[in-house]
Amino acid sequence: MILPVYLYGHPVLRKVAEDIDSDYPGLSALIKNMYETMYNADGVGLAAPQTGLSIRVLVIDLDALSENIPEVKGFKKIFINAHVIELSGEEVIREEGCLSLPGIHENVKRSSRVRLKYMDENFVPYEEVFEGYKSRVIQHEMDHLDGKLFIDRISPIRKQMIKGKLNNLIAGKINCDYRTKSVK
Ligand code: NI
Repeated sequence: MILPVYLYGHPVLRKVAEDIDSDYPGLSALIKNMYETMYNADGVGLAAPQTGLSIRVLVIDLDALSENIPEVKGFKKIFINAHVIELSGEEVIREEGCLSLPGIHENVKRSSRVRLKYMDENFVPYEEVFEGYKSRVIQHEMDHLDGKLFIDRISPIRKQMIKGKLNNLIAGKINCDYRTKSVK
C-alpha cells in the first residue's frame, strides 16, 4: 500500500523518533509499505516519520543509482532502532533532495564515514561503518529520526532563498506526482 509522504511543516518530521520492540504491531507490513511508497516516489530512502510514525525505522535502496555510482550496487537495507555512533572522515559537499521537500535540492556538507548501531528486520543487532554515498544517504535518513531535515544544514542565505518554496509546502501548494500529506 502506498502511504502519503508527510511534507515539510508537519510536526512529526520534527520529533525525535523512538526505538521499537520486536512485537511492534504490523512491522513487516509497514516495511513493505514503506518500500512501496519510496519506489512509487522514485526515492532511494525513506524514514518512518515521513509516513507519520515517530519510530526509528528506515528503508534504503540505492541500486537504481548504481549506473552512476557503482559502489552502491545491490545496496538495499532496512535499519531498525538505528543510532549514529560516530561521524568521521573528510567533509564532502553534494546535492540532496527529500521526498518530504519536493522541488528543493541543495548542497549539503556531510562526513564521508558514519558508524551506525542498528538492528535488521529480525532484531539482530549490528554495528557497522558505511562510507561514501551510502554514508550520505544513511546520514540524511538518520536526520529524519532525530527530527532534522537537510535544509537545516544549508546556509542562512540559501534558506532565505527557498523560503517561498518552503511556505508553499506548509500551505500544501505543491505539484507532486506521489501521495503527500501537508500540515494544512
Ligand atoms: Ni529525506
